[in-house]
Amino acid sequence: WTRISAEDPQVTVIWQVSTSRDFHTITAQGTATTDSSRDYTIHVDPFSLQPATVYFYRFIVTTGHYAGQHSPTGRTKTAPTPGTPLEQLTLAVASCANWESGYFSAYRDMAKRAELFDATLFLGDYIYEYASGSYAGNGPVRLHDPAHELRTLNDYRRRYARYRTDADLQAAHAALPWIVVWDDHETANNSWANGAENHNPNTQGDWLTRRNCAMQAYFEWMPVRATSPSDNGRIYRSFSFGDLAELTIMDLRTYRDVEAHNSVAQATDPARTMLGSEQFAWLGNKIESSNVAWNVLGNSVMFAPLNLMTLKSDPAASSVSSALSENITNLPLNGDQWDGYTAERSRLLNLLQAHHARTGATPLLLTGDIHTEWAHNIYSTTGTLLGAELVCSSISAPNVDEILGLQPTNPITPAAQSIIQAANPHCRHVNLVHHGYAYVTITRDHAEMHWLRVDAIGDPQSQVRDSVSLTWRKGEGFSS
Ligand SMILES: [Fe+2]
Repeated sequence: WTRISAEDPQVTVIWQVSTSRDFHTITAQGTATTDSSRDYTIHVDPFSLQPATVYFYRFIVTTGHYAGQHSPTGRTKTAPTPGTPLEQLTLAVASCANWESGYFSAYRDMAKRAELFDATLFLGDYIYEYASGSYAGNGPVRLHDPAHELRTLNDYRRRYARYRTDADLQAAHAALPWIVVWDDHETANNSWANGAENHNPNTQGDWLTRRNCAMQAYFEWMPVRATSPSDNGRIYRSFSFGDLAELTIMDLRTYRDVEAHNSVAQATDPARTMLGSEQFAWLGNKIESSNVAWNVLGNSVMFAPLNLMTLKSDPAASSVSSALSENITNLPLNGDQWDGYTAERSRLLNLLQAHHARTGATPLLLTGDIHTEWAHNIYSTTGTLLGAELVCSSISAPNVDEILGLQPTNPITPAAQSIIQAANPHCRHVNLVHHGYAYVTITRDHAEMHWLRVDAIGDPQSQVRDSVSLTWRKGEGFSS
């Protein structure tokens, strides 16, 4: 992927792929052309590369204003051949980068550690659609462009363009391959098939028109070969990593029913869907036909149940419950995550359980969205230990303390963490105050989870440090 910052009617580039950073020998080469219809972005799919190999790539402009200029050099890594023996896979896991609420030190750290990771899994909220100042946490540390809430194609394009001026984000893209999916803020808050919490059809027009603009800008600006649901395409897809893991990316926004905000009866209604029937059938097929040690699910909203009842009824900590459930009204849960679609979660768990019983494959959910760190044991619908969930914190989007205006030393947040853990025994780890990202190393019999924390998102040169590490073993659960 690249973009040419040009106003020429059309720009042509030569693209080159090499196994050496100095491009001493060229493995693959070709030309590509772009213009304003795709906002001068370029996607190239260089077929016939070798599996499990590190490659470098670059673009050389051959026409127009920038003729002769080279892009920065990118580094990527191909996946191993499906089915071949693979002992280990390490994925960086990240989500939720709000430009105004903090700097992207987490991305700088990801680039620095790139050789440790096989790929970055980005689980949504790459941008935020809000107007300047409306979701800035302790910021704004810098200002959005455009300043108004995004609605048109030009709006969404400009927001991506502003993000991509960030040197740390550029470095993270240049250092390793990204596997991406959207969550809601690539369009609008708590989006669903026919609308969003942050969309008013009376003043902002037709939802699908706005959504299609957002999707077009996403596919232009993101390094992804999926095709837009606006053009009868889909972003849900899967990646094979040898005989070790099948990584399935789910689209949890395009086909879902509205978030549950009325009643528990609504959240548990068996007719409600998160995936939509077509995607559910595809996912079921994918799981049943895979023959790997791990079914890894890229998941943009939290999968494990989160019971907020005790937290809600605690006078000291009840504010934390509303910060964790965003727009929820009176429910003791977050109806925008899988807790608002419990019947479909059970159907998916039953599929995973049946496949586990037949092949031994273990589900591992890798999750973003909630701006806080979590680790969960995942149980089948009959209560047997089935798998695990890792939830990364946010790159910079506001967490509980920032939403509530609490100081880092406040007593409420640690109390809330204890209450949550007591009320949710499947929860092995929760941290509500730190930003950063996570990574997981998967081997045949265990998954090592690591959370990395940014010291201060208001400091553009902040340190990023290793913090909590947990090991989840098949058949045993968390062992450390
Ligand atoms: Fe987010």
